[in-house]
Amino acid sequence: MPLLFFSRRFLIFSTVIPFLISIALYQLDTFDPSHLPADALLYSTTSIPPLINNQLLTGAEFIGVGLLNKPEDIAYDIDSGLIYTGCVDGWVKRVKVMESVNDSVVEDWVNTGGRPLGLAFGLHGEVIVADAYKGLLNISDDGKKTELLTDEAEGVRFNLTDAVAVVDNGVLYFTDASYKYDYSQSSFDFLEGKPHGRLMSFDPTTRTTRVLLKDLYFANGVSMSPDQTHLVFCETPIRRCSKYYIKEERVEVFIQSLPGYPDNIRYDGDGHYWIAMPTGVTTLLKLSMKYPVWRKVTAMAAKWGFNLMFAEDAGVLQVDLEGKPIALYHDRKITHLTTGIKIGEYLYCGSLLHSRILRLHFLKYPAHKSL
Ligand SMILES: *[C@@H]1O[C@H](CO)[C@@H](O)[C@H](O)[C@H]1NC(C)=O
Ligand SMILES: *[C@@H]1O[C@H](CO)[C@@H](O)[C@H](O)[C@H]1NC(C)=O
Ligand SMILES: *[C@@H]1O[C@H](CO)[C@@H](O)[C@H](O)[C@H]1NC(C)=O
Repeated sequence: MPLLFFSRRFLIFSTVIPFLISIALYQLDTFDPSHLPADALLYSTTSIPPLINNQLLTGAEFIGVGLLNKPEDIAYDIDSGLIYTGCVDGWVKRVKVMESVNDSVVEDWVNTGGRPLGLAFGLHGEVIVADAYKGLLNISDDGKKTELLTDEAEGVRFNLTDAVAVVDNGVLYFTDASYKYDYSQSSFDFLEGKPHGRLMSFDPTTRTTRVLLKDLYFANGVSMSPDQTHLVFCETPIRRCSKYYIKEERVEVFIQSLPGYPDNIRYDGDGHYWIAMPTGVTTLLKLSMKYPVWRKVTAMAAKWGFNLMFAEDAGVLQVDLEGKPIALYHDRKITHLTTGIKIGEYLYCGSLLHSRILRLHFLKYPAHKSL
């Protein structure tokens, strides 16, 4: 029976052997993802707000197209009317935004030589930068001097300094998303599912760095509460933001089971925080988060240059001071929104993918009551 013989051999070469090779590769690969805590796998509607705009791209305008290379975070200086943003090429750029986005002026301000992520203004007009590669930086207001404030704590170097907030007494609060993986390898931190992140403070008067919380899951955005009693910080893979009470040194859940994976969180000076989510919860991400095996396969594929981590449906969630969801602006057709900040009647969004800042006039394009 030559035909059967032929097809059996074909079967062995085309499926059985590749299958055995895959198993062997899988066994040999040392990447060892963990199960995530059970509450990270909860999907609930409690974090879905009553008001939704599910077409964020409709009416959106783009600022600095091609000039702002992946502007991750945005800080707004109300006195000068300038937007500061950190780009992937190391530049902290300044943008003078005009009524018409095409009249906006983009200026190369200071290049950190690293990857500026979170930005905040210091008490003396300086710009504090959480630089993924360099650590926490202080850029003087004239842009002439860049000083490294800190890049390690308790003998452990930061590998992915991520976001920063400044308090009225001058103390800086910031996150290191991971001590184990750097910015270029950050997806592996996500896939490994282990807590390598820390929340820390830096006191400029004593120049001491303190670890407030460790073992955080990709500690990302951080924001100071308006009454200055606590911080709110986000842990991306477990879709949760928590409060850290500064005096009491106590942690409390702020909002969990988010409809996406939270990145930066920004207070708007007007009773609300805005939480950006680079991707919504997709079926693939749900599976990945639940099954470490899946994440291991994804990581192995990534090492061979294949991306199996598809992002989809990015958005910005507006919540009140108690963490109650108010409105969600999102769009299936957009990914990698990393920050959302309200300036006047506009929502400005940074991106980890696109070379532009997105802005939406949210009075003209509001979120509506959903069913
Ligand atoms: C801005 O410029 C872009 C590209 O040239 C153009 O498509 C768009 O219509 C302009 N927008 C305004 C508001 O002028
Ligand atoms: C940043 O540097 C400036 C001088 O360039 C200094 O006045 C300011 O106090 C510094 N800020 C911090 C937080 O260290
Ligand atoms: C920082 O990240 C890089 C790349 O992900 C890694 O090789 C290095 O070991 C990390 N540093 C530390 C101190 O673990």
